[in-house]
Amino acid sequence: MNSYTFSDVLIEPKYSSIESRSNVDISTNIDISTVLRLPIISANMKTITGPKMAATMTMHGGLGILHRFNTIEEALMDYREANLLEGDHVNKNIAVSIGVQEGDKKRFDKLYDIGARIFCIDVAHGHHVLVKNMLQWIVTKGLFDVTLIAGNIATSAAAYDLIEWGANVLKVGIGPGSVCQTRQRTGVGVPQLYALEQCKAIVDHFNVINNSNIKIIADGGITSVGDIAKSLKFADAVMLGGFISGTAETPGNVYKDPNGQYYKVYGGSASGENKGDNKFVEGMMKTIPFRGKVKYILREISDGLKSSFSYVGANNLKEFQEKCEFIHISGGGAKESKI
Ligand code: XMP
Repeated sequence: MNSYTFSDVLIEPKYSSIESRSNVDISTNIDISTVLRLPIISANMKTITGPKMAATMTMHGGLGILHRFNTIEEALMDYREANLLEGDHVNKNIAVSIGVQEGDKKRFDKLYDIGARIFCIDVAHGHHVLVKNMLQWIVTKGLFDVTLIAGNIATSAAAYDLIEWGANVLKVGIGPGSVCQTRQRTGVGVPQLYALEQCKAIVDHFNVINNSNIKIIADGGITSVGDIAKSLKFADAVMLGGFISGTAETPGNVYKDPNGQYYKVYGGSASGENKGDNKFVEGMMKTIPFRGKVKYILREISDGLKSSFSYVGANNLKEFQEKCEFIHISGGGAKESKI
């Protein structure tokens, strides 16, 4: 099949025997012990996930992955603060990020020592020897209580290699992000739904043949709850940056423009501002009108997903993945759909 993405398809409605949408179960697992009531993860970006967002995501059934654009001491403080804010909720999960440099080994050890167990090895090009080295360095430790998320990737070859190198969860998405400039600046990328489909085929192979429990996080390009539903055909959870940007829980100040409009800043991890220099810039900064609490957006997502599941007659994510079928639409169909 030719490559395709969100605006190229719709989910075909199917016979349903679901009498009430409130009975639909949209929960997911990203590892054996981590059940998310809501299959949503806040992006590990400096302007999206600090302690407040991570704790809020957990409280509402999702997951937050703390960003890594700080010193190790700051990362440790963020992890402790997120756990304190989160308190005693059932889903006590705060994930953390590391890069692939020598210093990231120390970051890993220190975060592990204070209790972090879900690690995201996160670089722009995840199908890379440095990701292989970092995964293998961690795997060699023989820690059976860690979950390793790794990415970003967008091809079946990358999915295969990352699983072989020891990743438990694949973070999929090269170039779809709302503040991402990779595709314009380099010409590189894979339309997101196609990337997810390719990676899912490899994951299914490993899960069936080797009895593995590999999961997929869809990362980037979400502009509507419909896009989240489409991603869940292949992914176990969906990461959001732009969709929850400008909310009260994101790090950073609320500013007021000359017209009296309140706003916050949302920016790419590879923007000049985030990197502190102008070399290899592949992201930009945006201002976003202040949007209040993130819980209202999470509720809209939860309601929308329950409806999506019910439209295809699915009681849960497993049934949704089996029953959901895409119809490819014309330009006219996309226009009519307002997508
Ligand atoms: P959304 O669309 O949710 O995307 O805003 C969030 C994801 O975008 C990725 N990201 C970047 N990609 N240059 C890129 O090419 C960047 O500067 C950049 N910053 C973030 C990242 O995967 C994030 O989760």
